[in-house]
Amino acid sequence: MRLILLGPPGAGKGVQANFLKEKYNIPHISTGDILREEVSLKSELGNKASEFMKRGELVPDEIIMEMVKERLMREDVKKGFLFDGFPRTLNQAEQFDKILKEKNISLTAVINLNVEEEVVIRRLSTRRICSNCGKIYNLITMPPKVENICDECGGKLYQREDDKEEVIKERLNVYYRQTEPLIKYYLEKNLLYNVNANLEANFTQKEIEEVLKNFS
Ligand code: AP5
Repeated sequence: MRLILLGPPGAGKGVQANFLKEKYNIPHISTGDILREEVSLKSELGNKASEFMKRGELVPDEIIMEMVKERLMREDVKKGFLFDGFPRTLNQAEQFDKILKEKNISLTAVINLNVEEEVVIRRLSTRRICSNCGKIYNLITMPPKVENICDECGGKLYQREDDKEEVIKERLNVYYRQTEPLIKYYLEKNLLYNVNANLEANFTQKEIEEVLKNFS
């Protein structure tokens, strides 16, 4: 399985990726997670990326493509992969196509999580993440059993810096301007599959499984 999860911020890409990586035994490659890790390490890359991320803007394509190329050199991608949050611009998608062609591999499917704007705004402002294992919670739809504590590992939950209302709006604007055109791009390549991401996570998961049944 070589998959891409497309969708606006808060569509549930991270939540669905957690199930897909287990089910298909493939690495989950989230460019957002890699960037946040670099920011927390205060690496050169992290320092460059942090200003863009705080404002809800995209990190420049050159930085992202370097990161992705490096990640694709790892042994585990031979099993397949699941990209979450990449590609996000037409330029990234075209460059990614070139890399795949050079490696003589092709994508299996691009899953587009369709969701209404008011749903994502609500989800993002109530999202919490475990600072230790990265598990994603939601204060309303997927709350932890004990307030602020991760069910899985006991880690403390935190709110992402870009999950503040003004930044959420900017991230959505950026999505409509720069990422939404990828839907047409992958549709024209016959790779796009739409699923309803307004539903409870389990239902969306079933829709994705239905799509991927054809490839496994
Ligand atoms: P990134 O980390 O990729 O963030 P994003 O795309 O904005 O997506 P999110 O992680 O916010 O949402 P999600 O769809 O994963 O939702 P989740 O599953 O958590 O990017 C962050 C930043 O990094 C970007 O702004 C940019 O600056 C930079 N960046 C990253 N990649 C880049 C690239 N390729 N190029 C340039 N810049 C890049 O779910 C959200 C919430 O909803 C959670 O609380 C969850 O519990 C809840 N939830 C999920 N599904 C459901 C459901 N079905 N029902 C009810 N609640 C649900």
